[in-house]
Amino acid sequence: MIGRLAALLRSSKEPLARFVAREMGKPLREARGSVQEAIDTAEFFQSEGRRLYGQTVPSELANKELFTYRRPVGVAGVITAGNFPIAVPSWKIIPALLCGNAVVWKPSDDAPGVAALFLELWRRAGLPDGVLSVVYGKGEGSAGEHLVQQVDAGLLDKISFTGSTKVGRLIGEVCGRNLQIPSLELGGKNPLVILADADLQLAIEGALWAAFGTAGQRCTSAGNIIVDTRVMPEVRAQLKRRAEALVTGDPLNEAVDYGPFINERFLQNWIAQRAQGLADGAELLVDGSRITPNNAPENFAGDAERGLYAGPRIFDKVDMSMSIAQEECFGPTVNLVEVNGFDEALAAANATPYGLSSAIYTRDASAMLRFKEGISAGMTSINNSTTGAEAHLPFGGNGWSGNGTRESGIWVLDAYTRWQSVNVDLAGKLQKAQIDLVDAGAPEALDWNELIS
Ligand code: UN1
Repeated sequence: MIGRLAALLRSSKEPLARFVAREMGKPLREARGSVQEAIDTAEFFQSEGRRLYGQTVPSELANKELFTYRRPVGVAGVITAGNFPIAVPSWKIIPALLCGNAVVWKPSDDAPGVAALFLELWRRAGLPDGVLSVVYGKGEGSAGEHLVQQVDAGLLDKISFTGSTKVGRLIGEVCGRNLQIPSLELGGKNPLVILADADLQLAIEGALWAAFGTAGQRCTSAGNIIVDTRVMPEVRAQLKRRAEALVTGDPLNEAVDYGPFINERFLQNWIAQRAQGLADGAELLVDGSRITPNNAPENFAGDAERGLYAGPRIFDKVDMSMSIAQEECFGPTVNLVEVNGFDEALAAANATPYGLSSAIYTRDASAMLRFKEGISAGMTSINNSTTGAEAHLPFGGNGWSGNGTRESGIWVLDAYTRWQSVNVDLAGKLQKAQIDLVDAGAPEALDWNELIS
């Protein structure tokens, strides 16, 4: 069925991508990428059922065999966000079903249409009714909260959630008191470091994509661009020039760099962040504002009445102690933080409570090594963007970014299975582990001089 789902996703990639772009607003190019991520996931797991290996191992006792098996957890509640409305649900639902669980899915109320289509593809792939159910609604005080309450009611055995740290904590509490381990993929304030020896064109390209791709509405988007003082003047000038040239507008227009906000709440948070940054003492290098029919800039390529659009914002002179350096803001905004040398850069990169993604641009192999080892993040890019994790590597974060669980690749199997140890005793008599052992006696005392002579 997962193989058939992969084929259906492949054959409907273009219309699905258009639907994603229209419903949640990411540009078509990116929407195709996010459908591709679901295809990659389905194709990766298509044969994983053949590889759900357990182990066999000798027993300490005679005529006895030992085995391990992965067993399904039970019924999993899956709650997903609107920014990756088909890729991230597929990261959760495909392995959960593959491992033998049933799933109740609460998709984001920002993208219920894509969810209905995904469910229909599953049906056409042959999934029997009731194995995957979808409940629509909002989170707090609505379907999401109700779903989580089912853990307390004893009806759910697992929650897998992608969303805010605040809601992740609440879910963690409910699951914790029921002795369950939820999968929590939460926020990020991801650092992108540019050292003095970096290929600056590459770094600036990566920084723009990390900060403004998907209008900054990825949990992997760059929040702080940490730049060595020696290259700061050039990075600052180029980022300003290139950010101001970014084309915002209709996601179906192939020339657009980024589209609208996914929802009103993200827009309002982004608006409030401007005053917050100024109160922190930061300076505005690029002061993009909400785009309305009256103030649309020349490079705006959309209908300002039909979407929540905004120009890019870059804060300069940001210090890691400022609140805007610490708090995630889903939207087209990024901070410039100036540092002197590698050690200060690493310290700044580690100076938030989050630890999801991270990136460094450098040509120095020793700096690459020290960054990989020193950064507290679930994901690290060397000379690439903070965004763009591939579907067969573990995805997840440290600190406020999650609870240590990982999605994607073989690692996600641990989230949807529990190990069962089995022993089969064919001795025909009671054998007691740790007790009925063949006692070889203590070794003789060693005469060292005799041994070496
Ligand atoms: C998310 O924003 O929740 O690594 C997921 C990336 C994408 C997935 C982002 N592959 O940017």
